[in-house]
Amino acid sequence: MRIEACIFDLDGVIVDSAIFHFEAWQYLASNLGIEFTEKHNEQLKGVGRLDSLKFILELENIEKDEQELKILASSKNTHYLQLIESLGESDILPGVVDLIKDLKANNIKIGLGSASKNAQPILHKLGIFDQFDAIIDGTHTTESKPHPQVFLMGSKALGTSNVVVFEDARKGVAAANSAGFFSIGIGNQIELDNADFVLPNLAGFTFKNLINLLQPVDE
Ligand code: BG6
Ligand code: MG
Repeated sequence: MRIEACIFDLDGVIVDSAIFHFEAWQYLASNLGIEFTEKHNEQLKGVGRLDSLKFILELENIEKDEQELKILASSKNTHYLQLIESLGESDILPGVVDLIKDLKANNIKIGLGSASKNAQPILHKLGIFDQFDAIIDGTHTTESKPHPQVFLMGSKALGTSNVVVFEDARKGVAAANSAGFFSIGIGNQIELDNADFVLPNLAGFTFKNLINLLQPVDE
């Protein structure tokens, strides 16, 4: 496969923010008398804000009308924004900055494919907003991963379907796969066994490593 673009997920690939999403959801859940565990949280990686809230409420069969859902989602987000207030360059996960630099030096386009509505302010906080040729996030999409929408929109914006996706969520890997792109899971091999390849993190990973991965093995 000839590679022309890489699309990165944000939470869990570029920045370790999953812990803050968890903390904010857990606070909201406990106020509603719902036990929300890390195992539950794993299923919410890559899932949009409203769908995540509905998942949590369903754990105790709690029903809310549209207005109440909006208020709860917004209070989770206010708390989340407080938790990530001091986020900065030093919170970028290992290897990300070097890999993006290396890819750009090799004329590979860089895209973001995230469910988060906070993606753009977060990229500004991290100081890497300008590195992206296209940003597709929760303010553009109508479907949550595993739907391929976010990556298909990213590919369209980047003008190529020769795309490699970096994802930390099983649902995100599924979204990349059903968009027809090569998927690289970042994290646990067992959790991400649906990915074309899995790396524990991006530390030391280069354009050359990527090219080697994409070459068909000689018989
Ligand atoms: C994803 C996270 O990137 O964004 C989810 O993995 C989160 O945990 C989703 O719920 C939506 O994020 P936000 O910032 O719009 O609430
Ligand atoms: Mg993620």
